[in-house]
Amino acid sequence: MTGAPQWQDAVARGLDAAIADYRRDNPGSARYRETAADVLPGGGTRSSYHFAPFPLVLACGSGDRVSDVDGRTRLDLNANFGVSVHGHGFAPIVEAVRAQSERGFCFAAPNPLEAELARRICERVPSIELLRFTSSGTEAVMAALSVARAFTGRRRVAKLHGGYHGSSDFGTANGPGSAPDLGSNSARAAAVPADILPLSVDEPDRLVASLREAADDLAAVVVEPVQGAAGLIQVPPELLARIRSVTQELGILLIFDEVMMFRMHRGGVQSMLGLRPDLTVLGKLIGGGLPVGAFGGRADIMGLFDPFREGAIRLAGTYNGNPMTMAAGIACLDALEEADFTRMDHLAQALAGAGNAVLARRVVPASIVAAGGFFCLHALPRPARSHAQLLQQDQALHRLLHLGLINEGVLVTPTGMGVVSTRTGPAEVDEFGAALERVLARYLRPAQA
Ligand SMILES: Cc1ncc(COP(=O)(O)O)c(C=O)c1O
Repeated sequence: MTGAPQWQDAVARGLDAAIADYRRDNPGSARYRETAADVLPGGGTRSSYHFAPFPLVLACGSGDRVSDVDGRTRLDLNANFGVSVHGHGFAPIVEAVRAQSERGFCFAAPNPLEAELARRICERVPSIELLRFTSSGTEAVMAALSVARAFTGRRRVAKLHGGYHGSSDFGTANGPGSAPDLGSNSARAAAVPADILPLSVDEPDRLVASLREAADDLAAVVVEPVQGAAGLIQVPPELLARIRSVTQELGILLIFDEVMMFRMHRGGVQSMLGLRPDLTVLGKLIGGGLPVGAFGGRADIMGLFDPFREGAIRLAGTYNGNPMTMAAGIACLDALEEADFTRMDHLAQALAGAGNAVLARRVVPASIVAAGGFFCLHALPRPARSHAQLLQQDQALHRLLHLGLINEGVLVTPTGMGVVSTRTGPAEVDEFGAALERVLARYLRPAQA
């Protein structure tokens, strides 16, 4: 399939056909959207799960499968953006949550499970000496910024273009995660408040110079070392090492946002890179599927929250460290050891390999990257190496592949990202490859002469 206009026509026709099939196959989801729109803007409550013509409405999940409201079951490689590392209904988590629910959902008091989960995280991530829980990754990022400002006495915070840091004004400024559908087009994203210093990874020397120029009033640099929402883009390790050394020299705190990518390795991305940030933000899988966030790091910084200290920073939160989440998180981490991460990494690589072979055979200008149990579809002939490159994607082809995969029984995120879980095996890798093959055969047939 060559020749740009013919190719674009073929993609446009394929996308129309995929949308028509999707509408036909999912009447229950379409009806739900219409009725829910009476009370929820557009029929939903989470921008990141939205896609046109309407999101699939899920009724239940079991293992690595989810069923929609029309009763159709699919392979779930979305897994709530990676949260469900053991799939759905994982017995140890279900049992831990059930047992805790009989003891009480939540209390306005410390509960022993808080320290149990915290201990597990500190043991896995040596840079985290003390930590605090929140109810979401967004809140954890915001609290990390507060403590960074309090500790340094400085006001501004730098962030890298392409990193997504939650749905706060800080998290979305500078083109949030700026993947399509994640809010890059939101009005909020257009304005970068003066206390945020946006940095581009495409110009490392400029980036370091900006840090030096701003140092006097720069409290922290927040980095998502592997940018998940932005298409699984690895910030170059040599740049991360430079940022670490220059921040250390200038007294700027380095904060790693590993909310999503903590899933890549037992000790997080930082242990893969051999870097030690001052603070780390976590979320998603550490709550075993229940709402969670956490941030932690150097004891001299986190100690500012110690209420026994004069002038301690107050950080309240009705659900911080709630026992249901703590119980689920403990059960989740206890079933996740070094070998599981290695296995998931290999499986995701195999899945990307199977998909790339199909794409290459059919000469489709798209590719799949994989790392640490994640994979991501880029509608580009070669994988993007920066967020700026990813923004050049063929959006119609990307939508076609996403919807086509749903039509053929496989869920990935609207940004084309997916994960394998501890439930995934070689059969699911083959299933993905076969589904992609059917998508291309069904929706990208050359025009009839
Ligand atoms: C890197 C990163 N930081 C922060 C967040 C925000 O976490 P939450 O959605 O729990 O608020 C996310 C969510 O996807 C994320 O991927």
